[in-house]
Amino acid sequence: ATLAERLILGQVLAFEGDPRALGLAAARHEARGGVLVRDGLIRAVGDGAALRAAHPEARITDHGDALILPGFIDAHAHYPQTAIIASWGKRLIDWLNTYTFPEEARFGDTTYATDIADRYLDLVTANGTTTVASYCTIHPASVDAIFTAAQARGMRFLAGKTCMDRNAPGNLRDTAQSAFDDSSALLKNWHGRGRLGYIITPRFSPTSSPEQLSALGALWADHPDCLMQTHLSEQVDEIAWVRSLYPDARDYLDTYEAHGLLGEKGVYGHAIHLEPREIARLQEVGAALVHCPTSNTFIGSGLFDMGLADTMPVGLATDTGGGSSFSMLRTMAAAYEVGQLRGEALHPAELLWRATGGSAAALHLQDKIGRLAPGIEADLCVLDLASTPAIAQRQARAKTIWEAVFPTIMMGDDRAIAQTYIAGEPVKAV
Ligand code: GUN
Ligand code: ZN
Repeated sequence: ATLAERLILGQVLAFEGDPRALGLAAARHEARGGVLVRDGLIRAVGDGAALRAAHPEARITDHGDALILPGFIDAHAHYPQTAIIASWGKRLIDWLNTYTFPEEARFGDTTYATDIADRYLDLVTANGTTTVASYCTIHPASVDAIFTAAQARGMRFLAGKTCMDRNAPGNLRDTAQSAFDDSSALLKNWHGRGRLGYIITPRFSPTSSPEQLSALGALWADHPDCLMQTHLSEQVDEIAWVRSLYPDARDYLDTYEAHGLLGEKGVYGHAIHLEPREIARLQEVGAALVHCPTSNTFIGSGLFDMGLADTMPVGLATDTGGGSSFSMLRTMAAAYEVGQLRGEALHPAELLWRATGGSAAALHLQDKIGRLAPGIEADLCVLDLASTPAIAQRQARAKTIWEAVFPTIMMGDDRAIAQTYIAGEPVKAV
């Protein structure tokens, strides 16, 4: 043991894999558990007393009955939409034109971008989120702002310049060439620097010309270790628009595939109204989908089929600010509610997995984050399972850990986040 070791005590819930595939045997619960961390990594997970005996010099932080989980991973968000979250009364295309584009136009201003980036990271870490895959705006400065802020906090963070060269206001359009050049320069500057990763980010087919999609497909081919993120089949009107803009495409997914933007490291947000051919093709290439349930109900998009997780990696995400919350707890609750509307009650184990290991796998980060296991980075979220009177009185009846955590999933907010650890360091003053 060294002085730099920290032993974090509490209840521990550790998943070794996807409970959807493996059942509850994938989960291990320690009622009096502990997580030992050193140099930013988890070194051991197990019985608290045994870890204490084996590491007598470790600095102890005792969270009592609070539940230690991996930090939440938000697999799809737009940090520049922080200040327009919960904007009323529009569906996707009108919502973009009315609220989103005017706000995103402000991000050419570095001071503003930096201000929102810091505000956004304050909000997500207060909600137990330690990694996000975020869209930025067309402005390279918006990427620099969020990466600089995430790096200062030591966060593992993914982001990319949002590319669009048509069907957007003039001050929010790049070109095929500038999208390629700017993305390429940002990628070279940021990708793999510390805990940061660059994601090639065409916004979606309606706002990119075929030339721009091809340029970004070529960039991805040059950097196959990078992820590529975009939106797919979110809303019915949007799909009809894509059909008219790309008359030769077999379907929405084909607009990406035809331009080199379909691959195993592709991360496709929403994916609600998929054709059988699209599902088969996504499965074939091993691409990942991201479920954004608060957004899909808020903007009125539809109900994602979680059954797709039987055959594809599926992450969970807020989709801030189309999504109506910064909280992955609220997002899990919405996923549960959407499941109910589709006739599938998602188990708390699956909800927790989607928000941690499931999102990590969708982002190809499963060897780095999303689980409580030795060698995984020590990003943690500690949940107070009795954070409000309403939750406390329900939780007091619980006979299993699943019953104990479900009221917090359904009713919890940032008050339930007892602590967030980034690379082993607490975010809130202790
Ligand atoms: N489709 C294209 N851009 C966006 C966006 O910013 N939010 C959502 N929800 N869908 C999109
Ligand atoms: Zn989105």
